[in-house]
Amino acid sequence: MKLGYFFKISLFFFPDMVLLVYLYFLFRSENLLRAPLFIAVFLPVFLLLVVQASILYLLSDRLYFRKLRDIGEVIKEYKKGRFFASAKAMEGRDELSQLFNELAIMGKHMDDIVSTQKNEIDQLREMYNNVVFSITSYFLVLGEKNDIVFANDSFCNKFQYDRDEIYGKRIDEVFVFLTGRILESVGQVKVEGGTTILEKTHLLSRNRISVIADIKFSRIDQRGASQIIMVIDDITSRCRKDYQISLISQISESIQRDSEIDTVLYTILTGVTSGSGLGFNRAMLLLVDGSSKALAGKMAVGPDSLDEAIEIWSNLPSGRLNVLSQLKERGEQPRKGLNLLRKVLTAHFPLDEGNLLVMAMRGVENIHVLDAARDERVDQELRDFADVNEFVVVPLVAGNKTIGVIMADNKFNQMPIGNDSIELLSIFAFQASLSIESYNNLSLMKKEMEKLTDRQEAIVESEKLAAVGRIASHIAHEIRNPLVTVGGYARRVAQLSRGGIKKEEMIYSAAQVILKESERLEKVLSNVMDFTRPAPYIREFNSVNDVIHDTVDLLRNLFQERRLEIRLNLMEDVPLVKSDFNQMKQVMLNLLQNAIDITQGGGAIEIATCVKEKRVQIAVRDTGPGIRPDDLDKLFEPFFTTKVTGVGLGLAIVKKIITDHGGDIIASNRPEGGAEFLISLELP
Ligand SMILES: Nc1ncnc2c1ncn2[C@@H]1O[C@H](COP(=O)(O)OP(=O)(O)OP(=O)(O)O)[C@@H](O)[C@H]1O
Ligand SMILES: [Mg+2]
Repeated sequence: MKLGYFFKISLFFFPDMVLLVYLYFLFRSENLLRAPLFIAVFLPVFLLLVVQASILYLLSDRLYFRKLRDIGEVIKEYKKGRFFASAKAMEGRDELSQLFNELAIMGKHMDDIVSTQKNEIDQLREMYNNVVFSITSYFLVLGEKNDIVFANDSFCNKFQYDRDEIYGKRIDEVFVFLTGRILESVGQVKVEGGTTILEKTHLLSRNRISVIADIKFSRIDQRGASQIIMVIDDITSRCRKDYQISLISQISESIQRDSEIDTVLYTILTGVTSGSGLGFNRAMLLLVDGSSKALAGKMAVGPDSLDEAIEIWSNLPSGRLNVLSQLKERGEQPRKGLNLLRKVLTAHFPLDEGNLLVMAMRGVENIHVLDAARDERVDQELRDFADVNEFVVVPLVAGNKTIGVIMADNKFNQMPIGNDSIELLSIFAFQASLSIESYNNLSLMKKEMEKLTDRQEAIVESEKLAAVGRIASHIAHEIRNPLVTVGGYARRVAQLSRGGIKKEEMIYSAAQVILKESERLEKVLSNVMDFTRPAPYIREFNSVNDVIHDTVDLLRNLFQERRLEIRLNLMEDVPLVKSDFNQMKQVMLNLLQNAIDITQGGGAIEIATCVKEKRVQIAVRDTGPGIRPDDLDKLFEPFFTTKVTGVGLGLAIVKKIITDHGGDIIASNRPEGGAEFLISLELP
């Protein structure tokens, strides 16, 4: 029997024991212990008491204690949240059995409720997990110390972390760059609650892939502790598309604006390497150099070392990346990748050698080298130049001309080059080739223009010289003839006078010839002087009708002499024109002189004025033979004449005066015969 049972049974006959002990000590004091009566009474009583106590105990244990114990067990289970019903109902009609059975029924109900709730919770949890794990957004939950307590699969995949490994890491250990801005937003949401968004933020994965994302921070409060949820929306591809579209326009803008090809090439390669562009680590551009028959390095963009790369990537500005603004900054901050640039600028691959770059260009194909060390197409020189195992070469083709290649790689993040990137690069290369070609055409055009201007200036110069020569020879010719005559007749006059013979008639006629020829000489000289050094204009408001009346008055005798009719069809109140009166008279004089020269006796000369299309028009018409069609476009050239004694400056002077007045003059043949000179002058 266990000690516990013994103890419990002893409790049942504890009062009897007390009585027995009292009797024992009583009999002892009376020395009756050894009396046979005592032994005969005391021991059987003692044994009887023990038996009674045991029976009592066993009965009460069966009736009460066991049931109480079972009830206690059930309650204990309930406390632990286990409400499963007991295997069988407790027998007996006593209160304890009933209580036990009631408890069991209640437990069954509770168990039903709890298990349905548990099912629901499990379902909810599964749904939640499915949602959180499968959403394409990256999802992080931060604990009190900005440590990551949850990250979904998308995040782990993109940012290259194992789930177990990332849990417990602090956010600033995961995003080494831009930690300032992220921590600031986390801090703000922690204090103020609500939601904060960091737009177009550049993040870098563990394998250094640039990710542009909108990050949403929100706070959730759970059991007194607050956690931060970060939902990271990857907008890289959208940004890239936007950027690629804007890049093309930026490049063409650069071509039009920048006079240096370097700036254009730099703009192109920045597009290949920037995070929001094509995202390559490095890009190099080599163009065909016609003179050395080689592919020569022209430009390179990309860091020189991993440190530089990290610095560039971590400083990528948020918002739309603008190549132009980067270029503007170029002067202010020292450029990265100078060693690369230096190396590329000295690169030289002869076109007649079977180099891989030349192959890509000649075959107009993209070449993707996966393992330069083992690829037979890559020679040692190119291996050294590339300095990386995987790279891609795309040809630059403009029209049907290959002009060079772009070479790109991911030297620093070692990211494999995907086919989509190559495809994108070749589309970009196509645009770049057109840009380079149009830049070249533009600069060629500029050079041609310069040459043309130089040539034009030379022509003008030689034309001037030729004109001076023509003038000189014309004047020499014009002056020589009358001079010979003048000289001859002067000698004759001298001889006649010396002989003392008064042959007045002869002297007179010789002097007349001298006079006439001298007048002709004067006319030649004054015409030339008028043309080359015209008097300064004095412009006032004059009526063209007044000019015409004055000139006609001057020539009236001549008209009569030549039997020519003069008809004036002048507009009344013709508007005044701002002009030099005397110069305009010169114009009319020259035109009328020509008309008189050419019109046969009996003919008529008409002068008409009118206003047409807000201009004052003066027409001089004659009934002469008209102008030879071939001569129509030569009339106004200086020294063009069909007359034996003409200088050919009359109409040239007319044209000069009229254009100086802002007007114009047209010569034509009239349908009814004769010529017409039509002057039109602007009204103020
Ligand atoms: N009304 C006209 N009808 C036909 N031909 C004309 C008329 N006016 C001018 N011409 C032609 O235009 C030429 C040039 O005229 P222009 O007045 O410039 O020189 P010119 O009369 O020959 O010499 P000058 O310098 O003495 O005037 C003339 O020689 C003549 O052939
Ligand atoms: Mg003339």
